[in-house]
Amino acid sequence: MAILKIARMGHPVLLEKCRPVDDPTAPEIRRLVQDMFETMEDAPGAGLAALQVHVPLRLFVFRVLPTRSSGAPDDTVVGNTVVINPVVEPLGEEKHLRWEGCLSIPGLRAAVPRFRRVRYTGVDCDGRTVTAEVGGFHAGVVQHENDHLDGILYPMRMTDFRLMGFNEELSRAAESEARTGTAGGERAASPS
Ligand code: NI
Repeated sequence: MAILKIARMGHPVLLEKCRPVDDPTAPEIRRLVQDMFETMEDAPGAGLAALQVHVPLRLFVFRVLPTRSSGAPDDTVVGNTVVINPVVEPLGEEKHLRWEGCLSIPGLRAAVPRFRRVRYTGVDCDGRTVTAEVGGFHAGVVQHENDHLDGILYPMRMTDFRLMGFNEELSRAAESEARTGTAGGERAASPS
């Protein structure tokens, strides 16, 4: 196991389009996935795409911790999960703004339009199908990671750049809003 170096925005690898994994059960893929789990936990983050650790293959890892799930029935809590050669499809047209961060854009977070509900399908390191229909945080993190596989970083999805800032400043603003009773809103994010 090893903690891998994460590419930061500006590194050209993050703009690459990833190629499919030929053999998801290959030992080197299992090793990569284990190292990605360790790297995600160390960061700590909610998700990590192989491209972010300089491997342009179509796979990502993620987790939905109980502290991050909205509690909605379809915002399923899951431990470390890998999805190899994923297909992500929106369920319905509805989008919402979701606060997110990215391990490749450290220190910042922003509100990004995402589909409320998606279905994802792929395989794991044993070649077994991984599929779920999810909403909330779970749906958001999957869309964020899947975007990485096509070289898309979250600022490229943004529609309102006023809703972006440094974590410390946004937390300070939220605390101040809470004190004065002005409308705040959810601004927490787990980078992925
Ligand atoms: Ni990311």
